[in-house]
Amino acid sequence: MKHVEVSLGGGRSYLVHVGENILGTLPDIINTCVPNAKRAAIVTQATLASVLADPVVDTGIEQRTFLIGDGEQYKRVATVESLCQSFSEWGMTRNDVVVAVGGGIVTDVGGFAAACFLRGISVIYVSTTLLGMIDAAVGGKTGVNLETGKNLFGAFWQPSAVLCDVGLLATMPPRELACGLGEMAKYHFLGVRNLDAASMVDRVVSCVAHKAAVVVADEREAGIRATLNYGHTLAHALEIAGEHELRHGEAVAIGLIFAAELARILGRIDDDRVAEHRQVVAAYGLSSDLPPRGNRDELIALMERDKKAVDGLTFVLDGPNGVEVVTGVTPEAINAAFDAMSSLAAAHREVIT
Ligand code: GLY
Repeated sequence: MKHVEVSLGGGRSYLVHVGENILGTLPDIINTCVPNAKRAAIVTQATLASVLADPVVDTGIEQRTFLIGDGEQYKRVATVESLCQSFSEWGMTRNDVVVAVGGGIVTDVGGFAAACFLRGISVIYVSTTLLGMIDAAVGGKTGVNLETGKNLFGAFWQPSAVLCDVGLLATMPPRELACGLGEMAKYHFLGVRNLDAASMVDRVVSCVAHKAAVVVADEREAGIRATLNYGHTLAHALEIAGEHELRHGEAVAIGLIFAAELARILGRIDDDRVAEHRQVVAAYGLSSDLPPRGNRDELIALMERDKKAVDGLTFVLDGPNGVEVVTGVTPEAINAAFDAMSSLAAAHREVIT
């Protein structure tokens, strides 16, 4: 088992444990990180409960399982209220712990419930998806969606520990793994090395180590943390416009290509670098074509509501100094980037038909 430390100040440092078949270490981790906990509320989904053992995890203390729905439509404040009500009815105290077992939806919702219940109790994540392991479970962003956008209602609340058992990835549907690869593609352009390592453990460790360093430098996303959202501005808009037919990692793959085209139009990168983006995304077996649903005006309106957008349309873009936040992007440049996406997608269709 390997460990990455997220060395936050104020006694809030924690370890991300990465390995194969490491769920058996959970009681020790709870004992070390939350020694006074008497009860563990396991937050998970029925779909996971059906593929994992029963109980999904053994915490070594009194535990009870609380199921949430499967799908973005359940990533809502009503789910958080219902969880907190159940925790309260069970009699959980401030010493107790939430153990969220699942992918990004479960850790975002379970983490937010932990952040709110009794004004904040400990939470441990057992991440079961690649996307969760290399992004959602690390860094303390918790929250839910509003009608108007993704993750607009939440809190920064760091976990006490994260377990990434890559052995669980084999139990996940192929589409789930593809989503994680979309997020891994992002790390190529953030300068992460070792992504072609032979073992999945090492690849996850490389991504987590990068994310941990960024989160330590900028926990509340006042600056450099926004680079972790590379490819996400269009991705979030596509997810909302398409009512989540497109999964997050699939949308990020398309968002990366859009961001590359936009950066090229703004003179920040050249054609070769755009081609590199396309190669990386294709090598992961992901599509870079815009989906049929969602028109440009709707997508631009959604991007204007992005959390980063404090000064006009704001993107995270590649450039001579690497990936950075770029404000005040004009609708003309965005339309030109959409044209580049559409024409390439059309050209691709002509070739394959
Ligand atoms: N998912 C991006 C971040 O945690 O900042």
